[in-house]
Amino acid sequence: AKKKSILDFMEMKKDDEKVAWVTAYDYPMASFAEQAEMDMILVGDSLGMVVLGYDGTVPVTMEDCISHCQAVRRGAPNTFCVGDLPFMSYQISPEKAVENAGRFLKESDMDAVKLEGGRRVTDQIEAITDAGIVVCGHIGLTPQSSGQLGGFKAQGLTVESARELIKDAVAVQEAGAKMLLVEAVPPEVTEFITEKLDIPVYSIGAGLPCDGQLLICGDMLGMFQAFTPKFVKQYANIAEDAVAGFEEYVKEVKNKEFPKDEHVYHIQESEEKFEKL
Ligand code: KIV
Ligand code: NA
Repeated sequence: AKKKSILDFMEMKKDDEKVAWVTAYDYPMASFAEQAEMDMILVGDSLGMVVLGYDGTVPVTMEDCISHCQAVRRGAPNTFCVGDLPFMSYQISPEKAVENAGRFLKESDMDAVKLEGGRRVTDQIEAITDAGIVVCGHIGLTPQSSGQLGGFKAQGLTVESARELIKDAVAVQEAGAKMLLVEAVPPEVTEFITEKLDIPVYSIGAGLPCDGQLLICGDMLGMFQAFTPKFVKQYANIAEDAVAGFEEYVKEVKNKEFPKDEHVYHIQESEEKFEKL
């Protein structure tokens, strides 16, 4: 299939055709997503947890993100890919944000960059957009500032905080973002935002009434065992399959059941000649 563009995503919003979006961090996962006809891939800084084993996303660097984006692009050349700008690559100033987003796009070959925050990052969104780069906003549960939120906690649970989220959503669109991700927010709030904004609004843990869904591959495929958020549906159990496969291999190696004749190379000359070796 042909790679989609932001125009396709705008069209899909109008037609109420939902976007299926998943994270990937490496070549094989990206190629699986593309084979499954995923509309979009996110190379999230959740790679810090899912593939690098950190407790959160704060330690993830530009180099980490860029190298994982490159691997994903090689695995999914025909899929619209969004890459996360890591912590401290855009917060400092709009100038630093453009410089890093520009470097990121040049080296990673992503179609868009995503950054976290509402009104406090609108100058950054505007500056990056002015440079000609597609920006995806991200509000609600924002993992890079989870310390301020007191952990990975759902947001917008009170009317007052929901109002703040709606103001953030509007500000992100006005700053020039071409799509918005809403994380861990009640569906009522997501629905309000989706109807209010012209740009597509996507949910991770923010319910059905929006323009599409995102899940983390490690969660939905059962690869990430540290914790599973309430909003995850598990569609496969790769960890279980992998451990079972490894256990079987260990057993067969110990029992000398592996390798068998079909797994080895045989000498091509006569055995007589070989005996002189
Ligand atoms: O890094 C990521 O995968 C994300 C999702 C949690 C939304 O930003
Ligand atoms: Na992220």
